Amino acid sequence: MQKEVILTGLRSNSEFHLGNYLGAILPMVELQKKHAGQYQMNMFVPDLHSFTTPIDHGSLYEQSLQNLKVFVAAGLDIDQPDTYIYRQSYIPAHSELTWILDCFAGFGEASRMTEFKDKSQTVGVDRVTVGLFNYPVLMAADILLYGAHYIPVGEDQRQHIELARDLAMRLNNRFGELFTVPHEWSKQLEFAGIERGVRIRSLRNPEKKMSKSVEDPAGTIMLSDNPEDAAQKVIGATTDSVGVINYDWEKQPGVTNLLEILALLKGVNHQEVAKEWQGKSSYGDLKKTVADEVSKFLGDLQSRLSAVDEQKLTQKLEADEAEMAKVADQTLLKVQKAVGLRPKS
Ligand code: TRP
Repeated sequence: MQKEVILTGLRSNSEFHLGNYLGAILPMVELQKKHAGQYQMNMFVPDLHSFTTPIDHGSLYEQSLQNLKVFVAAGLDIDQPDTYIYRQSYIPAHSELTWILDCFAGFGEASRMTEFKDKSQTVGVDRVTVGLFNYPVLMAADILLYGAHYIPVGEDQRQHIELARDLAMRLNNRFGELFTVPHEWSKQLEFAGIERGVRIRSLRNPEKKMSKSVEDPAGTIMLSDNPEDAAQKVIGATTDSVGVINYDWEKQPGVTNLLEILALLKGVNHQEVAKEWQGKSSYGDLKKTVADEVSKFLGDLQSRLSAVDEQKLTQKLEADEAEMAKVADQTLLKVQKAVGLRPKS
């Protein structure tokens, strides 16, 4: 019997920071370890999605490859025979199915997507692109082409998963069984584990999440930071004036963020770390411990990154792209036949 498919997109348009690593990359690597052999895992680079917001097109191509290397350095096993990695733009069926799905998606339905509403408000209606509006439909195509059952993503992507389900069911009702309908959100959550969705905060503004931002270089640890400089950023982290360490995102977000980073880097439960530090009064000791851990982590990661076998990675990528293009083309052909673009038999 064919294995059920877990599918997820690995962003590619900018360099990764520690928040990406702990909140997205590591959970994905863990997912692979947990399910190796039982499920097929499709881990693809949504490079077409990456220019729904302004980016540096001059570095996109290299950045996609570089970010894949980070996944490998983080422990993604590319020898695992059920794991497929590919770039979205190398498989034209994604774009083509998007157009067909577009013609079955409602304008109102797409307008209600909160990510679109939020981003279009920030960017302004004159600068927001049709691409951003269409983004969730492209995401539905990404999912439906491969008959994915599980799509481990954060809460912010929930509406997009629901749209993919709605479109699948709509076309199935009208044209017969074309698509595998992905599992509903509650099952997705159960599968991915409740704990996920941890958001590492900025070291300087712990009310905000860590992000690659020009205004906040001191609050963000980039994976390419020199380990010494990164340690200094931790030492300079904003805390509070409570004077006692507690795991409390509401009242002590700065200290809690440090405890969280420590727990994730050590691979232990945050409760365990919280218990160890609970009630202690030296923020300095905590910062020093986290700073050491961060600099050790970066040193290790950077040396693993430079040891990644690029040639092997590229070979795997190209072989998987060829194989997944076949799968995607089969689904597309089924749809093309159903909607009258190809002869029925
Ligand atoms: N929208 C996802 C994000 O912002 C990336 C993505 C694109 C994706 N297509 C996907 C994730 C399909 C899962 C499945 O992170």
